[in-house]
Order: sequence, then C-alpha cells, then structure tokens
Amino acid sequence: MNILNDAQVSNLLDYEGTEDALVSAFGDLGRSQAQAMVRSRVDCGPVKLSAMGAIWLRHQIAAVKCYPTIEGRFAFALNLFDLHRNELVAVLPGTEITRFRTAAMARLAARAACQGVPEIACIFGFGTIGRSIGAALDGALPMQELHIVDPAVDAQLLASMQPAFKCRLKIASVDSVERSGLVITATRSKTPVFNGKRLAPGTTVIAMGTSLPNGSELDETTLCRAARVVVEWKPQSISEAGEVVLGLKCGALSPDRLVDLPELLTGRANWRESSSDIVVFKSVGIGLADLAAAWLACARHKAAARRETV
Ligand SMILES: NC(=O)c1ccc[n+]([C@@H]2O[C@H](COP(=O)([O-])OP(=O)(O)OC[C@H]3O[C@@H](n4cnc5c(N)ncnc54)[C@H](O)[C@@H]3O)[C@@H](O)[C@H]2O)c1
Repeated sequence: MNILNDAQVSNLLDYEGTEDALVSAFGDLGRSQAQAMVRSRVDCGPVKLSAMGAIWLRHQIAAVKCYPTIEGRFAFALNLFDLHRNELVAVLPGTEITRFRTAAMARLAARAACQGVPEIACIFGFGTIGRSIGAALDGALPMQELHIVDPAVDAQLLASMQPAFKCRLKIASVDSVERSGLVITATRSKTPVFNGKRLAPGTTVIAMGTSLPNGSELDETTLCRAARVVVEWKPQSISEAGEVVLGLKCGALSPDRLVDLPELLTGRANWRESSSDIVVFKSVGIGLADLAAAWLACARHKAAARRETV
C-alpha cells in the first residue's frame, strides 16, 4: 500500500491532466460506468464530519474521502481501493487532491462555457482555492487581465504573486463584473458578492464557494438571468448548493435550466444556446472528482516508480 503526502501529490498533479481525468470520470458517470456517493455530514458541537466517495469502473478503483471541519478548517484523508484485488492500495492526505480537483473543475467549466477567450476575468476571493483557480486558468485561457476582488489582497501581496502568472493581475472592485467575460467566486461568503444586474450578456459565472444549502455567493438576479445553471452532479448539488436550493425555492431558478456534467459530457445537453446567454456553473465538490485526481496521482506515482527500477 502507498502512503503519499501532500508534497508528493502536488508534484504528481497538474491542472491539465486533472481536468482530463475529470472529463473522463464525469462522462463515465453519465454512462453508468462510475457512481458517486452523496456527501454525508454530521455535526457535534463545533465539529462537522463529512464523508463522500465514488466508484470508477474504467480503472477498477473506488475511494472514500472523509474530513472533520473545525472553525472552517478541514483535515482530509482519502482511501483508494483497487477493485481487481478488492484491497486498499493508497492513503492520501487529501488537501492537495482537493485543491487540484477544485481548480481543475473550474478550468473545465471555464473552457467549456466561455465563448473564446475573455479579455478580462475577475475573481472574488483570492485565498487558497481562488489562487489555484487563477493559476489553472492562466495556462488554459490566455486572458489578458485577471481582476482580483478580495479585501485581504493588497498591492504588495499581488506583486509577489505576479511572476507566477502570464496574465496581468489587478486589484479591482466589484465594478469589474461589468467588464469581465468570466466571473468567478471563491469566497467563504454565504451571501451574494455582486449584483447580477451588472453581468453583461454572454458572461460565464463560476461559483466555487460554499457547499451549504443556506448559503449562496450568487443573487436571485444572476439565477433569473442564467440561461443554464450547470452543476457537477444533480443528486448531490440539488441538496447542497445554496444557489440551487434557494434558487429553486424562490423561483429564481427553474428545473428546466438546471443541467449537470454527466448530461453535458455525454451530449444530452449543451453548455449554451447563444452567445448572449449567461451561463452559471456551481460547484460543491463531488467524491468522483477526488477519486479522479487520486487515480491520476497514484498512476503517475506508480509509473515514476517503475521508471526508477529499470
Ligand atoms: N467547490 C469545491 O469543490 C470547493 C473545494 C474546496 C473549497 N471550496 C470552498 O471555496 C471557498 C474558499 O475556500 P478557501 O480555502 O480558498 O478560503 P480562504 O479563506 O483561503 O479564501 C477565501 C478568500 O475570500 C475572501 N473573501 C471573503 N469574502 C469576500 C467577499 N465578499 N468578496 C471578495 N472576497 C472575499 C477572503 O478575504 C479570502 O482571501 C470556501 O467556501 C470553501 O468551502 C469549494
């Protein structure tokens, strides 16, 4: 059995390869060749305990990720099983798996939903996840400017990050929404971070923040204006994504505009009908995405070990 640490996982993964693994896994979910286990959560005082998992027949693997959350901080562990032998083959700590699969998911959505390359993208929240999404998009969509809306990011911090980016990073205000072809949210906010009236026709909105059903980074106007609201996987998203739960409840979102990745990746739905559509992607994080990233890390680890022994 392999025990990989986060530094090893970080060296083994890249955003492009992880995105390819996600496309393959969520396509297989649409073809009944993979299955995901909806996240289960329990609360006890200040502690939440969550678990989710998946099976992926293409590679004969399964995984379960579990994690306590205390004061907004997560401690992940992921067990990977080989189904040929039906045994545990790897244990991974999960922080880097989560970071890579989340950024790669945003990359997948941005590349599929954006029309061409947006000159300007803006991102609300440039913390751990926001920065990784910025880095994942920088290589995939050669936008000229990435506008950062985050009270915790100042000019000095931004200057220290700029050398790692091809696009120009700029500190911005919520006004950037009006000029951005791609708007991303990656905050811990449970209330809307911009007014949907400000979105230009054709904008892609990618909401990566909270997975709690009573929180939403997007407002009702954004949901009303969206021609499509794309989620990773309906069985989990309709109970976890506040944008979906609250949107359906208040009528800002209708079920006919809600589609998921398995439908899109098997050609049963499309990302947009017209260039003026506003398309929203809402992510909550699915066990199958963890499994896809863990599979890639372990496959690359195994290949590297084989190379070393010859
Ligand atoms: N979709 C997924 O699969 C997935 C995976 C992991 C984490 N997440 C979620 O992503 C979110 C961000 O996680 P993180 O680890 O990067 O958090 P973080 O605390 O590292 O970063 C959050 C950043 O958002 C900024 N911020 C807060 N409110 C803001 C607002 N209203 N406008 C602009 N910026 C604001 C903060 O200053 C901070 O820099 C969390 O809600 C987390 O649960 C989602």
